[in-house]
Amino acid sequence: MQIYYNENKKIFHLQNKHVSYIFSILRNGQLGHIYFGKRLRQNNEFDRFHVQVKRGLTSFVYEGDTTFSLDYMRQEYPSYGTTDYREPAFQIKQTNGSRITDFVYKSHKIYNGKPSLNPLPATYVESTEDAITLEVTLYDEVIETELILIYTIFKEHSVIARSARFLHKGKEAIELTRVASMSVDFLDDNYEMVYLAGKWTRECHVKKRPLNMGLQGISSTRGTSSSVQNPFMALARPDATEFAGEVYGFSLVYSGNFKAQVEVNFDNESRITMGINPFDFNWLLEAGESFQTPEVVMTYSDEGFNKMSQIFHDLYRKNLIRGEWRDKTRPVLINNWEATYFDFTVEKIVEIAKSASELGVELFVLDDGWFGERNHDKAGLGDWYPQEGKLPNGIKGLAEKVEAMGLKFGLWFEPEMVNKISHLYEEHPEWVIQVPQRSMSHGRHQYILDYSNPAVVDHIYKMMSKVLREAPISYVKWDMNRQMTEIGSTYLPIERQGELVHRYILGVYDLYERLNKEFPHILFESCASGGGRFDPGMLYNAPQTWTSDDSDAVERLKIQYGTSFVYPLSSMGSHVSECPNHQVGRMTPLEMRANVAYFGTFGYELDVSSMSDEEKESVKKQIKFFKEHRELIHKGDFYRLKSPFNEKDEFVAWNVVAKDKSKALAGYYRVMAKPDCRFNQLRLAGLDPDKLYSINGGEQTYYGDELMELGLVIIEKGDDCQSGRGNKPGDHYSKVYVIEEVK
Ligand code: DGJ
Repeated sequence: MQIYYNENKKIFHLQNKHVSYIFSILRNGQLGHIYFGKRLRQNNEFDRFHVQVKRGLTSFVYEGDTTFSLDYMRQEYPSYGTTDYREPAFQIKQTNGSRITDFVYKSHKIYNGKPSLNPLPATYVESTEDAITLEVTLYDEVIETELILIYTIFKEHSVIARSARFLHKGKEAIELTRVASMSVDFLDDNYEMVYLAGKWTRECHVKKRPLNMGLQGISSTRGTSSSVQNPFMALARPDATEFAGEVYGFSLVYSGNFKAQVEVNFDNESRITMGINPFDFNWLLEAGESFQTPEVVMTYSDEGFNKMSQIFHDLYRKNLIRGEWRDKTRPVLINNWEATYFDFTVEKIVEIAKSASELGVELFVLDDGWFGERNHDKAGLGDWYPQEGKLPNGIKGLAEKVEAMGLKFGLWFEPEMVNKISHLYEEHPEWVIQVPQRSMSHGRHQYILDYSNPAVVDHIYKMMSKVLREAPISYVKWDMNRQMTEIGSTYLPIERQGELVHRYILGVYDLYERLNKEFPHILFESCASGGGRFDPGMLYNAPQTWTSDDSDAVERLKIQYGTSFVYPLSSMGSHVSECPNHQVGRMTPLEMRANVAYFGTFGYELDVSSMSDEEKESVKKQIKFFKEHRELIHKGDFYRLKSPFNEKDEFVAWNVVAKDKSKALAGYYRVMAKPDCRFNQLRLAGLDPDKLYSINGGEQTYYGDELMELGLVIIEKGDDCQSGRGNKPGDHYSKVYVIEEVK
């Protein structure tokens, strides 16, 4: 891993054993992009791609010179208005009305390690040996502002992390109206744009479309990263598959409004830009103030999408998720939400917890409904103290009871919200996000607290920390169940109203930071009506995210498959829930529900106390099975084998392989039965071709190459393929295979 700087040619080259990232200082002092991709040996002639020949009709920077037009240059962090007509990475409004800037190279520094982007979440290294950083400072002398472009290359990962910082030194305030985290200009447009889209209960479905001349992209204007589009985009060669081909991944470490877009220009070159959504955004910089953008993690894979995902998983597991729980074994949990909703008593909770503990569950989570006047969704949010009627001995009394059964205790909060029926709202109606003289829309009868106001964050911190201090609480589910409307703050001055959405998320990060610091033993799981804020910014603060409110096993195949494009299995909340399923009404076998949920953090979301003895016995076995394999699931390399989004795939499958390749676990899922069945071939991935393996402890052994190339022969339950009464597998067939090295 190194960063070269060629003084003569003014070329920077960030290089490790996997990737190279190259750019240079152009003759006008701005930075010109040269290359991002597979590792290249160092050379001093990389700038030959900045071709400067006489051009036809466009605009040129220097009088009498028709060779230098930014319209034809590939750039690092482009500005608008000085010959480049594509959308820029940033724009700054000045007091004289100008939006024109000219940031030219001033200096740079290269150092070991990686800087913190505090208060923003970002990837980190524990040893300065694990990464090198380049900071290039550019300066605009008219507005007396520095622009610092920050690049980090990691030793082990095929990753470049990028962000930008503006430092305003002039006396007159300036206004940032657009401030992306990064921009990369690719030489062609022969890519597909791949992204994760959906909605509530249908998160992270994989979408693909070819790039076309013009603008295309994804974004959020909802105040959260959102389930509609995840802050991730890949550019993949059209022939890229899960296992082969070039794929660039871009993941924004941020939880608020974002935008990722690709602009294909007249010469079929593609500019990808990613960062805070410029829509409805502005940020005032007074003298001496600075603005740091969120970070974009850029990955490069020449082994398809699986490799891209493994790069993200490795990086996010070790260099993004923080704290005690980063490496700790995650507990099997039971959550009472779908078992009781708001309607619970201490007796009922104790009954569920008792049964759960007998079955091997390790953590009981009390969901919504324990506080204030919360017996339905119209009241209580904001009043974070236990409801005496429901919990006569408080959270402490209940948590101690649960702990006495050998379970840890976890609690639900929705700290960013308030209901009108609450003491908090009565006392502080001005703390809600609102615009004077405009009515306030609601979502789920709730309103959003103005986290741009530090007094609000302080108040919520005091209430939450009191509860967490007073009772033995080991886990917190942090929920967020609505999106922003009528965005305005009674706290911020008029000229800073456009800062609210970003300041809001900084307030959320601040509260997480304080709670994580004071309660390092607590495992946080974030949630926004499921995966409405499943993003790297949240992962930095909470190692787990509730992947979706849709816990139906069939639906989850798609949701978990898509989510795994970026997020590791150890971060994906996945529970076995009741049937008929509460979201879609579908019946699926208990076995299939577990077989899907194993590939996540694993838990239950149903009333185990009312299950039959036979079901309880199955649950006991499932929990034992998961405990035996969870280290592998959470720390191994995950491979998607057969896609729920591909009509040609007869079934869905994935497998996870231990880093030393001594063990693997494969999941096979066939949703709909077919008549006159043949058999299915399941080709595994990631094994050692030379190792001998057994399947599910059987005596027969197979070399890794055979399991990967020829695969397993799956003959589903029953071998009766003829028409007539017989033993047919039916819909929703699934099986999990344990593959172990035989020595
Ligand atoms: C939405 C979450 O996604 C659910 O799991 C549950 O916690 C409810 N909120 C509670 O209101």
